Amino acid sequence: MTVRVEVHRPDAWADAVADELAGRIRAMPGIRLCLPTGDTPSPLYEALAARAAAGDVSFADATIVLLDEYLGLAPGDPARCDERLRRELVDRLDPPPRAYHAIDADGPDPDEAARRHDAVAAEGLDLVLLGLGANGHIGLNEPGSRPEDPTRVVRIAASSRSVAVERYGADPPPTGGITLGIGRLLEAAEIWLLVTGEAKAGILARALERPEGPDCPASYLRRHPNVRVAADTAAASRLSSGVAR
Ligand code: F6R
Repeated sequence: MTVRVEVHRPDAWADAVADELAGRIRAMPGIRLCLPTGDTPSPLYEALAARAAAGDVSFADATIVLLDEYLGLAPGDPARCDERLRRELVDRLDPPPRAYHAIDADGPDPDEAARRHDAVAAEGLDLVLLGLGANGHIGLNEPGSRPEDPTRVVRIAASSRSVAVERYGADPPPTGGITLGIGRLLEAAEIWLLVTGEAKAGILARALERPEGPDCPASYLRRHPNVRVAADTAAASRLSSGVAR
């Protein structure tokens, strides 16, 4: 199938994606959204929070499901995914979303926490937003992951651990993570892969234009019938002209 790739100027990317997302939420107020964290969606969440504050969109009936979480970080650590999504979006929404489902990374049984979070996602996801790891991961489905892998406790790749420490400020480094599995993500009605910056250009081209495989978990997204890539010109710079835009 052809993946739809929408390319925006870097300075227009966040507003363009926020407008589309706000439109989706207006059309489906009770939407169940799965959201990532990381640097890519930060400007999008900023733009979305501004639209909510201006009364252009309301999350009052929406449910937000967190995509993934680190293990080994203390509650309240600013690098934690639950904290980051609260800080950048959830806590800025007034009225708040109907529900915000974080992942219990602090309990005695992370496997049980993964199962419980999977059950939340299994109730249905209307739209999943994903970032793209520099190594091709989606969520914390690191290279080697396959669609049949469930929502689970994972080891995180050394490069992902470095990102958590150096870019996100995790201290100490995370010891692992919990992620929704690729198969669960593929059950969503719609998926948007968010990709910005020149540093992601090569891995985006690999994900979209070379055969699918576990070396690049994002490549499995092409199995989905309703997936779009929201890229900026820098991230899209190594895509062949054959990709639908
Ligand atoms: C975060 C997540 C990760 C990131 C990916 C890109 O919840 O699931 O897969 O989306 O590592 O991170 P950034 O956007 O910081 O480059």
